Amino acid sequence: MSTTDNFFATPSEKSKVKTLIVTEFLKAYFPIINRSVGKEKKEIIYIDLFCGPGKYKDGHPSTPLALLDLVNNFRDDNIRKKLRVVFNDENEKYIDQLRTIVNNHDVVSKLTYPVEITNLRASDVNIRVHTFKKCPIFSFIDPWGYKDVSVAQTWELVENIGSDCVLFFNSNRFIMDINKENQLCHFLPIFGGQLEEVGKTVNNNLLGQKEKAERIVELFSRNLIHEMSKSKYSGYTLYVLPFGFEADDKEKISHHIVFITKSHKAITEMKKVMIKHSNTNHYSLLFDSKDQLQIALFHRETFIKEGIMEAVRNSISVDANFFNKIWTIDNLLEALDRYNMKLNYQVTPYSREEVKNVVEQWDKDDFVEIIIPKGRLRKRITYERKFKLKKELLV
Ligand SMILES: C[S@@+](CC[C@H](N)C(=O)[O-])C[C@H]1O[C@@H](n2cnc3c(N)ncnc32)[C@H](O)[C@@H]1O
Repeated sequence: MSTTDNFFATPSEKSKVKTLIVTEFLKAYFPIINRSVGKEKKEIIYIDLFCGPGKYKDGHPSTPLALLDLVNNFRDDNIRKKLRVVFNDENEKYIDQLRTIVNNHDVVSKLTYPVEITNLRASDVNIRVHTFKKCPIFSFIDPWGYKDVSVAQTWELVENIGSDCVLFFNSNRFIMDINKENQLCHFLPIFGGQLEEVGKTVNNNLLGQKEKAERIVELFSRNLIHEMSKSKYSGYTLYVLPFGFEADDKEKISHHIVFITKSHKAITEMKKVMIKHSNTNHYSLLFDSKDQLQIALFHRETFIKEGIMEAVRNSISVDANFFNKIWTIDNLLEALDRYNMKLNYQVTPYSREEVKNVVEQWDKDDFVEIIIPKGRLRKRITYERKFKLKKELLV
């Protein structure tokens, strides 16, 4: 029996976390996107291209059912009036099970648009019927392996304003399969011009498995940015936020989920959710289902100050004007994320609360010049406060 045969028996801790990351983000973000699209846009679209049966055999909801429950539980009808839900899976049996779940779900009669369910290979799903509407789309791409994933389809799904994607990224499988000639046809649509570099990374004996896995996510992100640069309007800023899952048995990364968006507000919301589910003893975002006692020796806070300091140092290499600029906490974080995208093809793993705490500490150490009108009393750091960072911070 293969691991996939057992996948829908009972959820692993990792699968539970994956579903929570998607649904907790949407709980916060659907209302935000609903407000920002205003009345003129009729639809917000949710597309799950590899949805599975909706429920585990032991009765636990998997992501499709958890999503329907979430939408059903919104207090007012605002989201339900606009939301179009699209599910797809190539497995006929799963789709039959999902149809039964959907047909019996309370939310269905409250939705303006009927839930669309198709039984196709993901690459055969005609996403244009959704993307041409220029509505916000949240897409979930969650295959078992990497077949039928492409950077072209991923970009198409996030191109519209307000569109975001959560992509399951099978880091360890890439490492295991990259030297198999017969798999190259699946890698090319994912890594494009970066494929050679992926091969070099995997075959570099000086790198550990974790470093390889992280570098491969970076190379995917680079290819996505390249894909974006070919689009009609190439002036977007893309933000990519990876979250790693450790393998159960060894000190390895098994896979990542990668959040992709053009909105910094969306990144800020997703960081909150991912930080909540990250249990590593480092600042990188990672879930480890090993015994909690083994991993809880240090806390994230121990590393944050040094991590944010490093992000500032990196930013200066991109922006010579950094110390002349006037910041708020939010636009400092946005700048750190943008610069990190330029340098490392992913955003920083820090939340606005964490940046605020560190700036408060820097303020106490006299590395912050708070901008206040003449004659007013010196104020403390708040989210609205304007300030400059002093060069002495680097000394
Ligand atoms: C990891 S499971 C999905 C789990 C689901 N997203 C959840 O969170 O509950 C992967 C699913 O992809 C489906 N699948 C595999 N290859 C596919 C393809 N090429 N096109 C569409 N579905 C595919 C499988 O049948 C399986 O249900």
